[in-house]
Amino acid sequence: MFRVYRTKNYEEMSRQAANIISAQIILKPDCVLGLATGSTPIGTYKQLVEWYDKGDLDFKEVTTVNLDEYLGIAHDNDQSYYYFMHENLFNHINVDESHTNVPNGMCADPEAECARYERLVRTLGYQDIQLLGIGRNGHIGFNEPCDSFPAATHIVNLTKSTIEANKRFFASEADVPRQAITMGVGTIMQARQILIVASGKDKADAVRDAFYGPITPTVPASVLQLHPNVTLVADEAALSGVQD
Ligand code: F6R
Repeated sequence: MFRVYRTKNYEEMSRQAANIISAQIILKPDCVLGLATGSTPIGTYKQLVEWYDKGDLDFKEVTTVNLDEYLGIAHDNDQSYYYFMHENLFNHINVDESHTNVPNGMCADPEAECARYERLVRTLGYQDIQLLGIGRNGHIGFNEPCDSFPAATHIVNLTKSTIEANKRFFASEADVPRQAITMGVGTIMQARQILIVASGKDKADAVRDAFYGPITPTVPASVLQLHPNVTLVADEAALSGVQD
């Protein structure tokens, strides 16, 4: 099943995505939520926190697994995805800290950390729902366009363009991490449900190529066409490359 919710704007996209995540939590309170960072899901997390504050949502039995993390960045660095998740979600809800999982960017042995993380997601029984954003080049997690779909959690060397794009968040380009750990496309595809969010005109080509073009590792998100349960929640601008 591939379902598209076309929303007027970012706010509506955020509310709709939060509704779908809420439904998952209400139907299965001890679910495994696969989570993403980036600017797109911030409104979704804000909405979830609002509903939690109102008493409509309970995260006490929820487990979370994040997609990715920079290597060599400490938890208290405000650019770490660990920090992002605490700032935007975990610090504001009643999730059990020991049930939240982000790859450890400060691990001594990154290869071993990848294997540990992959094992962890498998042991948890994989994600009930995986929230994803999409990169302008069609990436999901840190799975960048390449010649084949990387299956398992692995180390990626950030591309020059990603380093260039991210340097605005750091004191200098030299401070931008060169590597990251990411779930592989195979890890993502194990999720029972995929919820992908997109907003803005600069995502229009990626959304069109991912869902309405050929399945190819040069557009990593296009692999989602092979997944049996995908919901795309995107605003009009992000869907502007697609016919009604
Ligand atoms: C984040 C992630 C990335 C982002 C993507 C879109 O954990 O894995 O793939 O989802 O880069 O980022 P934004 O939402 O900032 O446009």
